[in-house]
Amino acid sequence: MAKLHIGGPSRKGTVSPEIYGHFSEHLGRCIYGGLYVGENSPIKNVNGMRCDVVEALKKMRIPVLRWPGGCFADEYHWKDGIGPKETRKRMVNTHWGGVVEDNSFGTHEFMELCRQLGCEPYVNANMGSGTVQEMNEWVEYMTFDGVSPMATLREQNGRKEPWHLKYLGVGNENWGCGGNMRPSYYADEYRRYQTYCRNYGDNKLYKIACGPNTDDYEWTDTVMSIAGKYMDGLSLHYYTVPTGNWSDKGSATEFDRNLFYATLKKTFYMEELIRNHSRIMDKYDPEKRVGLHVDEWGTWYNVEPGTNPGFLYQQNTMRDALVAGINLNIFNKHCDRVKMANIAQLVNVLQSVILTDGDEMLLTPTYHVFEMYKHHQGGKLLDSTVESFAVGEGENWVPNLHESATVDADGTVHITLVNLSDTESYPMDAVLDGFTGGTAEAELLTGEMNAHNTFENKTAVEKQTADVRVTETGVSFTIPACSVMHIAVRKA
Ligand code: AHR
Repeated sequence: MAKLHIGGPSRKGTVSPEIYGHFSEHLGRCIYGGLYVGENSPIKNVNGMRCDVVEALKKMRIPVLRWPGGCFADEYHWKDGIGPKETRKRMVNTHWGGVVEDNSFGTHEFMELCRQLGCEPYVNANMGSGTVQEMNEWVEYMTFDGVSPMATLREQNGRKEPWHLKYLGVGNENWGCGGNMRPSYYADEYRRYQTYCRNYGDNKLYKIACGPNTDDYEWTDTVMSIAGKYMDGLSLHYYTVPTGNWSDKGSATEFDRNLFYATLKKTFYMEELIRNHSRIMDKYDPEKRVGLHVDEWGTWYNVEPGTNPGFLYQQNTMRDALVAGINLNIFNKHCDRVKMANIAQLVNVLQSVILTDGDEMLLTPTYHVFEMYKHHQGGKLLDSTVESFAVGEGENWVPNLHESATVDADGTVHITLVNLSDTESYPMDAVLDGFTGGTAEAELLTGEMNAHNTFENKTAVEKQTADVRVTETGVSFTIPACSVMHIAVRKA
């Protein structure tokens, strides 16, 4: 029997709901076709937003959505996306496929999408090619209540009330596509731009500075030392690329055991990155006031054969479910510093939770993981450990089991557990400190490592209920090979 131990509340505190956040860029079919089809589409929609997709995302309890990019953000001029649609500027999306962007989805549409989803908007503003005035006016347009040029313009465009906007990103990947800046230059520019992003009325902005790419510790150190006190959050981007080779990242569905374990090993690197960046942040911010926002993460493979290379459309298998389960457990366990995380990207791009084809939609294995893990949102982290040993092949070895646990406001303990072995199932004995009886239920996602849903078979990988037995000290159950499990224990 493998032992799982669930202790008392961790000193790390509460799991911010935003750790379960998402990201939607003007890229491929994420916004257009995936989320937004326009009011006149034959696809069922409310104000242009796909009803099927919105309904599924609400069920998954999406807490926050980042927009409009990504690299697109630093080329986005928000005034192109307001006013009558027929007069909105058409532009070329130079980063992503060179397609025409007609700006029919802009600020009003994004805020409407967030309203329908019931989630917080996270607007990533343009610092790379935009001006201080442009950023200042966007904030005024979205949040100013009263008489002002931007509030008047908003009203002319049909919206009198300001929106509530908490999360504001000041640039994206400014070390790369957002202007190829050096950290000290970015830090100074960040200080300047953020000065003019005002808090109007009771709208209080939470400003997120551009953080490092993967292990660029110099970036974190420099930006924190120069601009740390002017920010509320610092981003971190890290993608899991199975081969480690950006020109041939590997297929989303066709991979062997070696690449399977290579992918999982690369996923665990997230923990090292968080620890190291946190240690640097601790130097400048020992009280942990500034959050680390992993606002781009997930798997990145070669695009599906025959699709536009600039659209980043990829399938999603049980391997992705394990990647999601591990990452989310890691974020939970670092909830004292990690305040938000946004998987890339929501629909039809990279590690999506939903894929669409015309009026059809399917839920990926990653969707089911987010749906099972939603119970951690806002929960108190519990100390937990699992007995594990290494599984893998060649140079790629990982722990066979990986866990995290929280307790929600009703006192229900939620345990999420990933079995990374591709062949072995494990009987488990979970001991919960202070357990004196209660009830338990479990849900499970399992399948062959490359099992996935297609438009011909949308339910090949689907969440199911699993057996769990209450014992004197907690619960016992068996976790099958290659699976993600959620166990809810209600103490008597
Ligand atoms: O998510 C795809 C791209 O990856 C984003 O636009 C960019 O920020 C990152 O490099």
